[in-house]
Amino acid sequence: MGTFTNRTAVVTGGASGIGFGLTIAFLEAGANVAIADIEDAALDRALMDLEGRGFGPNRVIGVRTDVRHVEDVQALADRTVEAFGAVHYLCNNAGVETGGSFGKIPESAWRWVMDVNYFGALNGCRVFLPLLEQHPETHIVNTASVAAFASGAPMMIPYCASKMAILGLTESLEAELRTNDSNVHLSVLAPGPVRTNMTNAERNRPADVPEVHEEARKVAIAQLAKVTQEVGMEPSQVAEQVLQSIEDKRFFILTHPEIALKGIRDRLNWMETGEAPPRRVAGK
Ligand SMILES: NC(=O)c1ccc[n+]([C@@H]2O[C@H](COP(=O)([O-])OP(=O)(O)OC[C@H]3O[C@@H](n4cnc5c(N)ncnc54)[C@H](O)[C@@H]3O)[C@@H](O)[C@H]2O)c1
Repeated sequence: MGTFTNRTAVVTGGASGIGFGLTIAFLEAGANVAIADIEDAALDRALMDLEGRGFGPNRVIGVRTDVRHVEDVQALADRTVEAFGAVHYLCNNAGVETGGSFGKIPESAWRWVMDVNYFGALNGCRVFLPLLEQHPETHIVNTASVAAFASGAPMMIPYCASKMAILGLTESLEAELRTNDSNVHLSVLAPGPVRTNMTNAERNRPADVPEVHEEARKVAIAQLAKVTQEVGMEPSQVAEQVLQSIEDKRFFILTHPEIALKGIRDRLNWMETGEAPPRRVAGK
């Protein structure tokens, strides 16, 4: 019997992109999955697709969840335990991105990005940790980004700040869990470019968050979308790496170590010598 057989995973943002890749990987490895997502249509599509692969409601459920709200996350936990009896893995993967140049970003946009990316992951940790602590060999994976290591992506300040916050939360919580000899382990997933719908994250922008109309922002996002589609890794490859890292209890999951490590080396050099790394400009 494999590590994941008859166990249960919760994947937030699990209806598309990396989250859907994780969902498929957990199911194929023998785990049950609760997919949590804010997009009803994507949830329906995901469940239909999975049905076609032979995974029905006895193995996978969809729970409409807005990770910004702790009561939604609590309902997700209750529904998962009701369906499968326990939870062993949590992937705090839901994420959004919006931005522009600093002066043009309204406060509501900052709050949306921090609420989904950072507080969504925090809600997941707070609600699920006590459930995971009830079982041996359990694991939480928080999704950050290479943006947590390689700072300065143009027109994406809220996103970069939120991903650095996730890194800080995950490293610090992992330290406490190890000090307490907890049976829950943590990892931080820091993807580089992955072929998903992330550059269209504004599809989930709440009505009360005004859109930023700025040419340089459009150029930056169009360029990122092009790179992601042309050279991005497949979500299935990321998922494979995540499951292996859970088995290995590996903390840092770097899909593109060359980008993450260069970011860290540049920062170290900046700290030691005062020489800032070369800055990227939107569209260049
Ligand atoms: N694709 C990349 O190149 C890349 C790179 C670095 C990090 N990431 C991170 O990977 C994670 C997954 O993103 P992706 O690339 O698969 O993009 P994606 O847009 O395909 O998936 C994100 C999912 O999150 C869901 N979501 C958005 N707001 C939500 C909310 N409030 N509550 C619940 N679900 C919500 C969306 O509906 C979607 O299914 C994100 O955290 C993202 O920041 C992606």
